[in-house]
Amino acid sequence: MSNSYAQRHGLQPLGAGIGLRRSFYETLPATERTVDWLEIIPENFLALGGRPQHTLDACAERWTVLPHGVGLNIGGPDPLDEEYVTRLAALVERVDAPFFSDHLCYSRLGGVYLHDLLPLPFNEEVVEHVVPRVREVMARVGRPFLLENPSYYANMPGGTLAEADFLRHVAEQADCGLLLDVNNIYVNAQNHGYDPRAFVDALPLERVVQIHLAGHDRYPDVIIDTHGAPVCDEVWSLYRYVLDRSGPVSTLIEWDQAIPSMEAVMDEADRARAVLREVAR
Ligand SMILES: [Fe+2]
Repeated sequence: MSNSYAQRHGLQPLGAGIGLRRSFYETLPATERTVDWLEIIPENFLALGGRPQHTLDACAERWTVLPHGVGLNIGGPDPLDEEYVTRLAALVERVDAPFFSDHLCYSRLGGVYLHDLLPLPFNEEVVEHVVPRVREVMARVGRPFLLENPSYYANMPGGTLAEADFLRHVAEQADCGLLLDVNNIYVNAQNHGYDPRAFVDALPLERVVQIHLAGHDRYPDVIIDTHGAPVCDEVWSLYRYVLDRSGPVSTLIEWDQAIPSMEAVMDEADRARAVLREVAR
């Protein structure tokens, strides 16, 4: 996509990656299979030492490593956690990540981490609150930053903007990139009754630098974004719909629960890589 956020920052599509999870520490660093890049949850590596540090260093020698956080709390009322941002900046530097990401949500209130990624009201007041915080984080870390569209199960009161417009206003005013979680779009569209393709059409796709593909669990009246199942056919098809409009984008297969064998995760990454190659042609 011409004049995109990625182009302006000299970021090339990296291919298909997987998450560095504890159960992969032993075997991943020496795998003979193709893995294009790795994503890490920085919270697992902020206090470095021992085996996690050794594994991370071995992986960073071989692959591009992208930190994808859950603790920045970019949208909450609490001030940014100075110590967290300092440690995050050091980690980004240590693995020499070309960019890093977190979620457009809040995750801390009154100094307490909520262990959840909670939705923000979609309105201009929140945009005005988030934008300077994103700019501050980018200045402190010194690398391009992406915000991910989270899944949510209730609309927060006080919303006046469509979700896609909210994402656009934050990303454009802060001049940051987007991490598009295609499974989150699918889950939200199902739970809130909207058309996922129309949602994609309304997004600033020229700012999408990374994609997440994950699985969810289906219950009678709700779909929960668990990252504990294979990517479903509808999400694969929505992924193709996005790529046909954006061009190839670095793609992660995201598992956080009931993590299968590394081989099974790599199989899904192979499938994503095949789609990326088709789109590049
Ligand atoms: Fe995600």
